[in-house]
Amino acid sequence: MVKKKACVFISGSGTNLRSIIKNSRDYNFPINVSLVVSDNKCARGIFYARKFSIPYICINSNRHKFEKIILNLLIKKKIKLICLAGFMKILSKKFIRNFKGKIINIHPSLLPKYKGLNTFQRVLKCNEKLTGCTVHFVNETLDGGKIILKKKVNISEQDNIKTLKKKVQFEEYRAYSSAIRKIYS
Ligand code: GRF
Repeated sequence: MVKKKACVFISGSGTNLRSIIKNSRDYNFPINVSLVVSDNKCARGIFYARKFSIPYICINSNRHKFEKIILNLLIKKKIKLICLAGFMKILSKKFIRNFKGKIINIHPSLLPKYKGLNTFQRVLKCNEKLTGCTVHFVNETLDGGKIILKKKVNISEQDNIKTLKKKVQFEEYRAYSSAIRKIYS
């Protein structure tokens, strides 16, 4: 099977990156992670790029410069899919249009509920009994693109931000790779 070349954008701990890389080692997985992009040179996720010998680049500059450099690199490397995994910069409309239908993101809630930041706090404050994560295509509206798949997580009375985050992230690791498989199935 000819795998598509993918790039993962990160800003932080990179645990979703780790899981995507591990799954991509499977012969039948549709993509190879050919590049890791970080907008933060201190992102812990860079460790996984190094560990698995994946080329990476850190660009700590304004959005315009960041996107210009990355766009050229993505074209040069023939990247066909961009996976946002805890990437904190908001991409410009122009950049998104250039990669229309080829950028996906994971969000720690059952979209369209709880778009944006601090999802766990807000979910708990609203006494939800159910939450989860969503993998979706990225369009020009924040967390608003077409949904690829969702995974549910039950919330118990004892849950706090830390425990809920752990439970949701556990599902995220499976959700992200299932979504990638689904796109190419
Ligand atoms: C994940 O919870 C994801 O839903 C959100 O950012 C977090 C990234 O975590 N978009 P990590 O960097 O993959 O560990």
